[in-house]
Amino acid sequence: MGKYIEMLSLFGVGGAHPGGLALTKEILSKLPLNKNVQILDVGCGTGQTIDYLSSFECPIIGIDSNHKMVEKAKARCDRLKDVTILLEDLEDLPFSNDSFDYIISESVLSFTNIEQSLYEIFRVLKPNGYLVATELTIENSLTNEEENELISFYGFSKIQFEDDWVKQLKQQGFKKIKALTPNQFSKHNHAQTSEIRITEPIPEEYYSLMERHTLFNEKYKDRLTFRVLSCIK
Ligand SMILES: C[S@@+](CC[C@H](N)C(=O)[O-])C[C@H]1O[C@@H](n2cnc3c(N)ncnc32)[C@H](O)[C@@H]1O
Repeated sequence: MGKYIEMLSLFGVGGAHPGGLALTKEILSKLPLNKNVQILDVGCGTGQTIDYLSSFECPIIGIDSNHKMVEKAKARCDRLKDVTILLEDLEDLPFSNDSFDYIISESVLSFTNIEQSLYEIFRVLKPNGYLVATELTIENSLTNEEENELISFYGFSKIQFEDDWVKQLKQQGFKKIKALTPNQFSKHNHAQTSEIRITEPIPEEYYSLMERHTLFNEKYKDRLTFRVLSCIK
């Protein structure tokens, strides 16, 4: 696991995806959420989305491969009914085929082997189950040097264009694929609105990483954006 994810987990960053919880709420408002739908949040981080979802009484499982994230998600969700948080790898999910109605992925896939993660997501979704993924997308080309700088800082496997995402979802067998752009959501929900939960002293080097992340956000703001990918199995 890269230092960037380690830094997020130490700071206890919740809503570590474009738009934060506000965009999550807008996206989820389009789904019928009730106690009959089984949801999986892959790469759930500190569990902010799970906490929100549990108010709809849906049974939810969150998985994350970073133990500190899992610790923080468990602490946050301890009081909630029908919520399970597990230390697991998205690339090798411990669930049977056809288990979930909805799978949510918020800024996770680019950190993993994307093909393998989509294979696993497809496998554990029920037929007609729904995937919604808010994922980093290149808006305007990057030079090789810039791409390498981002990949090595964030620990991405790769950075993709919208077309790449759509092609991979199609290859995996997903149907009714949509790639919604930021301007299809309320403007006030675009900003990164992360929450911080620090539970221990943080070494100085992680403060420097946070500063570098802020600088990258500014440097790449016109070239890196996101898509809300949705599709069914
Ligand atoms: C940018 S954070 C987003 C966290 C959360 N979804 C959110 O929006 O706050 C990416 C998360 O993906 C998790 N992650 C990365 N690779 C993973 C993998 N192979 N399996 C499970 N989780 C993974 C990281 O540990 C981290 O919590």
